[in-house]
Order: sequence, then structure tokens, then C-alpha cells
Amino acid sequence: MQDLTLGLSGKVAIVTGAAGGIGRSTVKLLVAHGVQVVVEDINPAVNEFAQAGKVVALVGDAAEEATAVRIVQLTLESFGKLDILVNNAGKTLNKPLLETSVADWDSIMAINARGYFLHAREAVQAMLPAGGGSIVNVASIVSIVGMKMTAAYAASKGAIAQLTQVIALEYGEQGIRANAIGAGVIETDILSGMVEDSRATLASYGHMHALGRVGQPEEIAQTVAWLASPRSSFVTGALVMADGGYTAM
Ligand SMILES: NC(=O)c1ccc[n+]([C@@H]2O[C@H](COP(=O)([O-])OP(=O)(O)OC[C@H]3O[C@@H](n4cnc5c(N)ncnc54)[C@H](O)[C@@H]3O)[C@@H](O)[C@H]2O)c1
Repeated sequence: MQDLTLGLSGKVAIVTGAAGGIGRSTVKLLVAHGVQVVVEDINPAVNEFAQAGKVVALVGDAAEEATAVRIVQLTLESFGKLDILVNNAGKTLNKPLLETSVADWDSIMAINARGYFLHAREAVQAMLPAGGGSIVNVASIVSIVGMKMTAAYAASKGAIAQLTQVIALEYGEQGIRANAIGAGVIETDILSGMVEDSRATLASYGHMHALGRVGQPEEIAQTVAWLASPRSSFVTGALVMADGGYTAM
């Protein structure tokens, strides 16, 4: 009989930025599909996710090489293999070009671009001997279109789209797929500390999407799960737009 599941049961994944909106939903969905997950976040709240035999947590800064090395080691020690990397830890910056300092630029690029590179590099080393794997990089509409006030953020998300294609090219023949998700505006706490109410501010961008609303973290989680799964076996090097039609407008 045809298997109508996503075929994720028994897989092992790393999810970074797991304490946030999209990360948290992704972990929940992957666990529901029978995936063992190693979760990472700079926020110690990520420790609350630990579940014997199912979820192992690491508190760490995704921008640091040592964190990327450690999380892959921890995954192999805990579950014996690594099938899926979800690069999701990220930060935004709402500043026009002229107010963006060198420190702002470096901080955004370190987390969003260097962090994805470091985790992908370590993950590929673990996936190669096992004959393959799937890397899913959470990118953005600003990977391909401009948006005012996002000079550093958009540059970092553009870098992720290109990094994804290069990984796909370099390791495709060894069974490793790499894809990015061009997420539209998603109702999360990513603007906390920058605006009074992050979710309400983000929700007000609904009219900029063909669907007339912004997305929910669960909708990006579903896209991650499909790209992570063998059901997307012929998809690699793609920037899959999950943007409610933002880039169609
Ligand atoms: N919310 C949106 O509108 C939107 C749109 C497109 C793309 N994205 C991307 O989705 C991803 C998740 O964002 P979200 O909306 O869930 O935001 P969020 O703020 O809810 O979650 C981000 C998580 O990343 C963690 N994080 C930040 N810096 C870190 C670091 N240095 N090391 C480890 N963890 C770190 C945070 O603690 C947080 O838990 C990000 O890469 C973001 O750029 C979000």
C-alpha cells in the first residue's frame, strides 16, 4: 500500500532557534511525525523542550563555531546519526541604511549568515558518511525583494539563499539536499524590543500578501517538514516561497 505519511518517522533532526515562533512550531510538528530532535537556542527556555528519548536541548549562540560543532556532536552522541538540519535561529534589525552601525551589521550577519554556514558545514560532515540528508534554511521574502529598514537583515537573508544553492550543488551527488524557505511575514515575537507589540505590528502587514493576511508559524513548520522529508526528494537548491503571495503582488 502507498505510504501517505511524510516518511519522517525515525529521522534525526537539529532545529536552531527552537525557542521562537517558527522554531517551536517546527519542533512540535517534527516530533509529532516521529522525528528525534536536538534543539538549540540562545534562550535557556529551550531546555523546557527536553523529552527523554525524543528531544535533547542545547543552549548556545548559533553564531559561534563551537556551538555548531557541539550540537552536531551532541546529536550523534544522543541519537547516532543526523538526517535533517533546520537552520532557523535569526534576528532582525529595523533600521534604515544610514542608522545601521558596523556593530549592527556584524551582529545580524553573524547570526543569520555565519550561523547558517557553520551549522551547515558541520551537518554536512555528519551526513556525508551516512549517504545523505536534508538541510532546510529558513530565509525570507527579503532574500529576493527589497524592504525598507532591512539593509543588514535583507543582505543576510540574500546570503542564505545563495549559500543554499552552493550546498545543493556541492553535495547533491552525495545525497544531500539543501533548500531555503522564502517566508512571508509571520506572526511571531521577532520584533520584541523594537516595537511595543511584535505580533500586532507584523499582523498589520497582512494587506501586502495576496492572501490578505500574514502567516502563522505552523504554516512555515509544514513547509519545513515537507522539505525535510523524502516527499520532496527531487527538490534541491530551491528557494521555496511560503509567503502568502507577497512576492506575487
Ligand atoms: N517572523 C517573520 O516575519 C519572519 C519572516 C521571514 C523569515 N523569518 C525567519 O524565521 C526565523 C525564525 O524567526 P521567528 O519569526 O520565529 O522569530 P523569533 O524571534 O520568535 O525566533 C527566533 C529564535 O532565534 C533565537 N536566536 C536569536 N539569536 C540567536 C543566536 N545567536 N543563537 C541561537 N538562537 C538565537 C531566539 O532566541 C528565538 O528563539 C528567523 O531566521 C527569521 O529571520 C521570520
